[in-house]
Amino acid sequence: MTSATFDFAPLLPPGLPAPAAKWTGLAKYSFIGGNNDPDQVPVEGLIDAVNAVLKREGKTLATYGLASGPQGYRPLRDFLTAKLRRDAGINCVADDILIVSGSLQALDLVNQTLLAHGDTVIIERDTYQGALTRLARLGVNAVGIPLDHDGMRIDALAAALADLRHRGVTPKYIYTIPTVQNPTGTIMPQARRAELLKLAEHYGVPIFEDDCYADLIWEGKRPPAIHAMSRNGGVIHIGSFSKSIAPALRVGFIVAPWAMLSRMLALKTDAGSGALEQMVLAEYCAPHFAAHVPKLTRGLRAKLDTLMEALNEQFGTSAEFEDPKGGIFLWVKLPDHVDTLKLYQAALAAGVAINPGPEWSTDKAYSGSRLRLCFASPSHDQIREGVAVLADVCHREFGVPPRSANVEKQAGR
Ligand SMILES: Cc1ncc(COP(=O)(O)O)c(C=O)c1O
Repeated sequence: MTSATFDFAPLLPPGLPAPAAKWTGLAKYSFIGGNNDPDQVPVEGLIDAVNAVLKREGKTLATYGLASGPQGYRPLRDFLTAKLRRDAGINCVADDILIVSGSLQALDLVNQTLLAHGDTVIIERDTYQGALTRLARLGVNAVGIPLDHDGMRIDALAAALADLRHRGVTPKYIYTIPTVQNPTGTIMPQARRAELLKLAEHYGVPIFEDDCYADLIWEGKRPPAIHAMSRNGGVIHIGSFSKSIAPALRVGFIVAPWAMLSRMLALKTDAGSGALEQMVLAEYCAPHFAAHVPKLTRGLRAKLDTLMEALNEQFGTSAEFEDPKGGIFLWVKLPDHVDTLKLYQAALAAGVAINPGPEWSTDKAYSGSRLRLCFASPSHDQIREGVAVLADVCHREFGVPPRSANVEKQAGR
């Protein structure tokens, strides 16, 4: 690195976020982030797709937006319209879709379009950190709604909406991850989706539906998307190829009425998301997506089983969790006195990376002894070894799980 002497600090405008930390590599046992299983990336299929599509259409790379315009590569939007109709019941056309650089860009565009400092939104109490940090940065008040086995609790939502109305506040949106919630892994049943829509319509609040895990369910058919059930067009639906194919591709999408899409398009000033990724995805997904997903979910389910077994073996009754209905995360509760922010530091020093609960929740007290574990990216062996190291660290720092005479404790639960 060159020796840096120029001082940029006096030039920085107020309100910038804290500087990013330098990347120091992945922990030996990494249970963090939304990373996927490296062995499940369909590498051969992607190689064939890139060859075929570049031979056929490579020259269109000479044009910003290919030959498809600013909403994204047309064959990818065509694939999505068919997939969304088949899987999620969404009846849309290619022009209702905007391809973006990962669904994180979708979060940014929706927020930039709708939110101003001091606004209020409703959000699930335990939710995606990337959504929470964005809202905090924008100075937006996030009202957290508790969840149960079926996702966001409607009684609590109704109470929050009534309370806000009483105070003269209209929330800008209700953000939900209804199909394999992050981090709890719940799926909101169709009947509850209908209740949610009814409430949202009654209060005139749009729903922001983040469906990026919807392909990763263990069994049965997913309920229709909330977008598909809406009668008034007040649902913004976003999705991603990060969880079903690969996060490094950075390809996501937004389905929304033109009144919203046209505003977001005006804010999307990057001259189009990565073209090659879109081309390769369309080429690969049209023939292969439907067969790829069950293989992927079988592998993920096997890793989840390994994780739950390892936790039962190493933590016994000290770790509580529910068997998630899909996805890549397990949301774990440790005894109340365990502070997972402290555990995070101690575990990292021992080579185990975890996501501490308070970073994934609007309620820091409720989530203080919870943690999120991603089971997709570590191998089965790493899961077993990593959980054993985590249990040792947790015992050393907090006295749980109990150990007797230096030997592994507790029978499984
Ligand atoms: C709920 C949720 N939304 C959005 C994202 C962002 O995903 P991407 O930008 O990779 O599509 C994630 C990533 O983990 C997520 O969990």
